[in-house]
Amino acid sequence: MRGLAAALLALFAIGHPASAQDLSSPADPAWSVPQIGALPYDAAGMLIRRGRDLVTATYAHIGPAVPDEAKRYAGNNLACSNCHLNAGTKKFGIPLWGLEGLFPQYSFEAGKEISIQDRINSCMTRSMNGKPLPVDSEEMQAFVAYINFLSTGAKRGEKLSGLGAGKMPELKRAADPVRGKTVYEKSCAPCHQADGRGVLRNRNLPNFGYLNPPLWGPDSFNDGAGMATLITIANFVHFNMPNGTSYTLPRVSQQDAWDVGAYVISQPRPKRADLNKDFPDRLNKPVDIPYGPYADGFSQKQHMYGPFGPIRAAIAKLKAQQKKN
Ligand code: HEC
Ligand code: HEC
Repeated sequence: MRGLAAALLALFAIGHPASAQDLSSPADPAWSVPQIGALPYDAAGMLIRRGRDLVTATYAHIGPAVPDEAKRYAGNNLACSNCHLNAGTKKFGIPLWGLEGLFPQYSFEAGKEISIQDRINSCMTRSMNGKPLPVDSEEMQAFVAYINFLSTGAKRGEKLSGLGAGKMPELKRAADPVRGKTVYEKSCAPCHQADGRGVLRNRNLPNFGYLNPPLWGPDSFNDGAGMATLITIANFVHFNMPNGTSYTLPRVSQQDAWDVGAYVISQPRPKRADLNKDFPDRLNKPVDIPYGPYADGFSQKQHMYGPFGPIRAAIAKLKAQQKKN
């Protein structure tokens, strides 16, 4: 009986060729998201719960409208979980799982090795348009405790599947913000509003956060944020929007996601100072960073909207030349 089951299993494995796309592969059977409710109510369990609350209700604890002025670290009323969906536990919803063993890591953006605290502060100062949290603050310790809890059982250095926002094929043409506007009006404005400002839970109390978060305007992420780059926002939208969409059943087509992403990143948002200091090694600057300087001679516009293939080819040539010299 055991032998038969094993034979059937082997047959199944053969009949099911591994997909080239990481996206359609089955969930990693060796790892699943741990349950916070299973933790004891001791000091460690309480710190982890506090970290979860900081992720899902950031605006209520460290937002710009909290009563205690000393705690106003974030510059907008977003929650980390507006982008790190389901409290950082959604596959291709930029999950916060399995990160403990991936840090410290080299960051081309910073031009040096960064810790998990540095990475959190990168989102604090860009996505949250705010100030860095002191490394020894109770809030930072809670964020790290929660993120490390989400790595329970993952092996050091192992990249769990589902990290990031997904990876669909790119368009051969430049993404088109004009066409994207029509997509926006039909598929996004019902929740995010025609003016991109989103919907607060309570119009008079911004520290209650958003029902539907803003995508641009003064209370949004700034122009140095990951969500302000086309490849990230297009994939995030394709695999996650309208909110509640699973990557297994996308509802916004790939073409629409590229164009609507182009429209959203073209809108006004807070500006971050000194962006020209990011990516000191310009040959390792991602192709879709929408601000210069660049090493490759392509326009800011092409870096913003694509097509990215020709830029990658030029960078590969420059890197080969650099090796020769
Ligand atoms: C506006 C959207 C947005 C918000 C809000 C946001 N982040 Fe992020 N975050 C991103 C993006 C985009 C990335 C890069 C994902 C990638 O590398 O594909 C990222 C990456 C990260 C990473 C590294 C993940 C990895 O896979 O390496 C951490 C840790 C993180 N964010 C923590 C936070 C915390 C904590 C908050 C709240 C204080 C926050 N973020 C708020 C968009 C956001
Ligand atoms: C049914 C309502 C709904 C629709 C329709 C919808 N969204 Fe969202 N969107 C949300 C909600 C709610 C969140 C925050 C998710 C959370 O906090 O759990 C979100 C988050 C986002 C984010 C990350 C957070 C931020 O502030 O930037 C982006 C980007 C985004 N949506 C873009 C879009 C785009 C583009 C469309 C249209 C193709 C779209 N959404 C359609 C409800 C919606």
